[in-house]
Amino acid sequence: MSVVLDALIFATGWAHVVLAPYTKVEESFNIHATHDVLMYGVGSSGLQNFDHFVFPGAVPRTFVGSVILAWLTGPVVRATILMGYMSNKFDIQLLARLVLASLNAWTLSLIRRGTSRRYGRSAGIFFALLTCTQFHYPFWMGRTIPNMFATIPVNLSTYLFVNRGPSNRVSNRNLRKAISLLVFAAVVFRAEVALLLGPLALQILLFSRRMSFSSLLKVGIVSGFLSLALTATVDSYFWGYPLWPEFSGIYFNVIEGKSAEWGTSPPLTYVTSYLPKLLLGSLPLAVVGFVIDPRIRALLLPSLSFIALISCLGHKEWRFIIYVVPALNVAAAKAARWMVSLPKNNLIGRLCFLFPIGLVLVNIPATLLLTQASVANYPGGQALSLFHQLYPRDTTFPTPHVHISNLAAQTGATLFLHLNAPPYYPAGPALPASWVYNKTENLSPAAFSVSGAPFTHLISELSPAADATLGSHWKVAGVVAGFDRWAVDWVLIKGDKGGLLRRVTEVLWMEKTDKLWILERK
Ligand SMILES: *[C@@H]1O[C@H](CO)[C@@H](O)[C@H](O)[C@H]1NC(C)=O
Ligand SMILES: *[C@@H]1O[C@H](CO)[C@@H](O)[C@H](O)[C@H]1NC(C)=O
Repeated sequence: MSVVLDALIFATGWAHVVLAPYTKVEESFNIHATHDVLMYGVGSSGLQNFDHFVFPGAVPRTFVGSVILAWLTGPVVRATILMGYMSNKFDIQLLARLVLASLNAWTLSLIRRGTSRRYGRSAGIFFALLTCTQFHYPFWMGRTIPNMFATIPVNLSTYLFVNRGPSNRVSNRNLRKAISLLVFAAVVFRAEVALLLGPLALQILLFSRRMSFSSLLKVGIVSGFLSLALTATVDSYFWGYPLWPEFSGIYFNVIEGKSAEWGTSPPLTYVTSYLPKLLLGSLPLAVVGFVIDPRIRALLLPSLSFIALISCLGHKEWRFIIYVVPALNVAAAKAARWMVSLPKNNLIGRLCFLFPIGLVLVNIPATLLLTQASVANYPGGQALSLFHQLYPRDTTFPTPHVHISNLAAQTGATLFLHLNAPPYYPAGPALPASWVYNKTENLSPAAFSVSGAPFTHLISELSPAADATLGSHWKVAGVVAGFDRWAVDWVLIKGDKGGLLRRVTEVLWMEKTDKLWILERK
């Protein structure tokens, strides 16, 4: 049974990677850093080729996660090449994301094991079912954003808290390990984890009295110092100047108040909008778990305090609170277990039995819709793939010099998709082509079109039909549409009662519009 559940968790993460293999702008720093470490290595001779010197982003990010990911991916890439399964660079992006998804799945299956041990076997089963049928977490498991690197140590610490007998206390050793992991996550990957660490430390000091203030402080200082030394050494090397990325992130976003420029949301947004979306059916169950079990209340206290604290920041994104999803799923799983084990000799007992099962079943269509939408949400990646189909490597002359628009770069056109240009993976199949993929920003239609311009093709977010200059110099070779929204066909529902049953699959349909045009010089 355990093996089946773990397999389910891994398979869910992998499925999301394979279904939506392209990446978005939030992932681009880390996916490119992983690309560069894999392709050029970490020696100082390769460093000058790294992408972050050309596109540094708003704030410097840490390389720690990407270096680890690249090092773990390297052997997998070499094995794939040896077995003959590697066809081009894009496969390497897929492999890197599968490795990240596997790491995430591994910590998740540890939490499942802990849940099973502490709250009963069926709680472990529900934990797996609820997690796998949610959308956001599994979808992001294989996505290279700093938050998903941070969730690895955070999840391990959740595991250390959960993994014990039904009434055992956390051992001091595990307590120290859990705190060190959280300190590491906060210092290296995402500073907001400190808001989870604070309430947890208070809880340990005030309620469970498991550690004295001085020994807690000692653990914090030692792990904090080691983590800082790691990120400062690694990142000063890669960026070329003394740097602690997470600190400069806080400085930029919180102290200089720049994060508010990304937009602010009302105080309760996390509770009213993001948590329900992240948790789907687990939310009502987690509330039940909180009510029925004091151990769950103790487990959730730091997570709930975290949400309260981070709600005070104006700028809100769902990924800032992703760390609390596993703990809340544990709470939901415990509640589900309790409900299915009530006596079933009355109506209430039977309804309670059906309730958690129904919620899991409701998660599934919701997640299917969200997954389909997300698959159609990477026009940039699709456009480059289509481009390579339209123009085969050996038969396209003159050698393409393609301009990639901002939208395309942000929705999937990563360096891994520059199939016909160097760098090539050292042991990989040699593809000697040297096309140019040009991401120069802020060029006007006139700048593309003048006779001296180097471009032979454009991946444009402007249609030539909408712009006279483009229209007179370029012709359309391909169009890529992208997801806008799910729409409901009310006319069908209200009007055609007879046909409704036959056409029930047409009631809900995906609205798409054209996003990118592949253009060829006339
Ligand atoms: C942490 O746990 C959540 C849900 O329990 C899971 O979806 C996620 O992939 C895990 N993340 C990592 C990095 O292990
Ligand atoms: C990319 O395009 C810009 C603008 O036309 C040009 O200056 C630059 O040389 C091009 N890059 C490459 C690598 O050719």
